[in-house]
Amino acid sequence: MKPTVFSGVQPSGIPTIGNYIGAMKGFVDLQDDYDTTYCIVNQHAITVYQDPKTLSQSTRMIAALYVAIGLDPNKSIIFIQSDVPAHAQAAWLVLCQTGLGELERMTQFKDKAQKQELVSAGLLSYPALMVADIVLYDAQYIPVGEDQKQHLELTRNFVDRFNNRYGKDLLVKPEPMIPSSGGRILSLQDPTSKMSKSDVNTRGFISMLDEPKTIIKKIKSAVTDSVGEVNYDKENQAAISNLLDIYSALSGRSIDDLVNEYHSAGYGKFKSDVADQVVAVLEPIQQKYYRLIDNQELTDILIDGAKAANETATRTLSRMERAIGLTYKPSLYV
Ligand code: AMP
Ligand code: TRP
Repeated sequence: MKPTVFSGVQPSGIPTIGNYIGAMKGFVDLQDDYDTTYCIVNQHAITVYQDPKTLSQSTRMIAALYVAIGLDPNKSIIFIQSDVPAHAQAAWLVLCQTGLGELERMTQFKDKAQKQELVSAGLLSYPALMVADIVLYDAQYIPVGEDQKQHLELTRNFVDRFNNRYGKDLLVKPEPMIPSSGGRILSLQDPTSKMSKSDVNTRGFISMLDEPKTIIKKIKSAVTDSVGEVNYDKENQAAISNLLDIYSALSGRSIDDLVNEYHSAGYGKFKSDVADQVVAVLEPIQQKYYRLIDNQELTDILIDGAKAANETATRTLSRMERAIGLTYKPSLYV
């Protein structure tokens, strides 16, 4: 049996090259050697308000991007979270075994809460839904960007607690898989914050559906520094190091190799080659995306994915319910 992998992306906007490099690209690479399940986590997205029509379109968009980057429905299960009721059901079980303090400590909650007028209880509870996503598929490895590390730690603690209370080895304890470089791609305009699809400054991110000329413009206007030499030095040359991370992840070339070539080439030449590399990777993905987005083929993939996911998830949910005692057993009453 192959080791199991699970991950998800929220349909809260168009994914950026940060999402692609930090997580989605890795999804593709794992398909052959792992038993892979990838979800479009639309129930996570509604922890902050989403316009209904946009949410529904973005959900399908992430699905189309999954296939466009190379996820193969014959190798991976691809499905939409709300098509599998066990996620919300298991999240309740997780919530009842999770400390309020644990949730309040999550940095993503604290960051997001600051930006909301209405801080929903869902925003606080969000990691419990993520725990549910993961344990339902007995997932061993979780490819994610660095910002999800804390949620994974919470998942691991939950699994320990659950197994201690209800029975050894009932749930599988997952491990994060974070890329060694590219786990945190930074904003092109502000290298102290991560690249985010919801950034109000759209020049800070490159979306996976940006047109080539927009990509080139955004990279050319990316902030740099006054050093004038290409070095990989995250402390003193964060912006240049970020461009190196992007170039390296998308070309497969090592950082050392790139630094050797571009050290004294000038920022203009360096940026122009980074931009060409980004376009070379995104253009074929975009072509495939536009072929798929309105095609019945995509709907069929999602229907099949939901069926397969439901089978596994329902089985694990009953295992959890039985362990907790949420079952009616006539034999107990005689
Ligand atoms: P989200 O867009 O929040 O659903 O994130 C989807 C995946 O992309 C998660 O695994 C994140 O950790 C990852 N991710 C998001 N932003 C970045 C970034 N700037 N750099 C690297 N990975 C990221
Ligand atoms: N919380 C993740 C994010 O914001 C998305 C996510 C939801 C996820 N459930 C998951 C990632 C399960 C990995 C595994 O990026």
